Amino acid sequence: MTQTGARAGADTVKRAAVLGAGTIGASWTAWFLARGISVTVWDPRPEAEAYVRRYVAEAWPAMSRIGMIDGASPDAWQFVATAEAAVEGADFVQENAPERLPIKRELYARIDGVLGADAILASSTSGLIMTEMQAGFRSAARMAVGHPFNPPHLIPLVEVVGGKETAPETIAWCLEFYRAIGKKPIHIRKEAPGHLGNRLQAALWREAVSAVVTGLASVEDVDTAISAGPGLRWAAMGPHMTFHLGGGEGGMAHMMEQFRPVFETWWASMTTPELTDDTIRQIVEGVAAEAKGRSIAELAAERDRILLPLLELTQGKPR
Ligand SMILES: NC(=O)c1ccc[n+]([C@@H]2O[C@H](COP(=O)([O-])OP(=O)(O)OC[C@H]3O[C@@H](n4cnc5c(N)ncnc54)[C@H](O)[C@@H]3O)[C@@H](O)[C@H]2O)c1
Repeated sequence: MTQTGARAGADTVKRAAVLGAGTIGASWTAWFLARGISVTVWDPRPEAEAYVRRYVAEAWPAMSRIGMIDGASPDAWQFVATAEAAVEGADFVQENAPERLPIKRELYARIDGVLGADAILASSTSGLIMTEMQAGFRSAARMAVGHPFNPPHLIPLVEVVGGKETAPETIAWCLEFYRAIGKKPIHIRKEAPGHLGNRLQAALWREAVSAVVTGLASVEDVDTAISAGPGLRWAAMGPHMTFHLGGGEGGMAHMMEQFRPVFETWWASMTTPELTDDTIRQIVEGVAAEAKGRSIAELAAERDRILLPLLELTQGKPR
């Protein structure tokens, strides 16, 4: 890495660039603004400017409610005409272009020469491999994955993953940066499809789909099996720690001793469902029945009514 002396400290970033301002880019913009970082936004869709404005206005009360706005302004951003202009002079770039390797690489090719010699670029990619994204670029050592969960202005987790050419300092800087702005970053130590959080979700959802297809339970009952059961505990602590408590006074060691054969039998009985047209229809119809006529907006409002107090309870204030 060159000229590290000039890099903004991870806790003193003043200006970020957001490239690609759809669902994820607009949400990141809202969060950076809330944390007092000014933002230059670029998206090839001219309508994206109005979308970001609406998104920030709608996100602001929720971020305020969870205590994340320290006198920051929702107006400290501008929409610029090119990716190059967005990146110029930015300490940090969050890239949220469509999930296609050629699109991301074409974008990196455009900004590679403009990106400040010490600026860091993090990609929101859900599944692409950083080693393939960064190959051949001057700034490769300063590129990493910074994968959020939707919506990034509410969900704290960010997965930081390096590619083969990512410098260890870049990983350390990203972890420190996301921590400083109030996120909960974790370091994923190897490149894997879906990083970690989505692999965990996929493992559970595989069994959830399987349960419906094999007639174990309805879509609605499968959802209740999580939201009224283990899901409540998982917001407080993860699956390992939850089972540590499941072992009583003996903790995880006792839990392992008691349940090792049981879990091995359960795992052995699990199968991977095929997402056939029939399976998809069954799940889509099941979700429609569970929604009982509520629109997506109504369901999202219902989720947020629970999510916001939960975030207040579980997340400390940053800085
Ligand atoms: N949606 C999610 O739940 C989610 C969660 C975490 C990460 N991500 C990741 O975030 C990234 C963006 O996903 P999204 O859901 O916001 O998609 P989206 O379709 O909502 O937004 C993509 C935006 O990129 C713009 N765009 C098109 N071509 C572009 C280019 N060449 N350069 C820059 N921008 C371009 C589009 O106009 C659009 O506004 C993807 O890499 C995705 O994997 C998505």
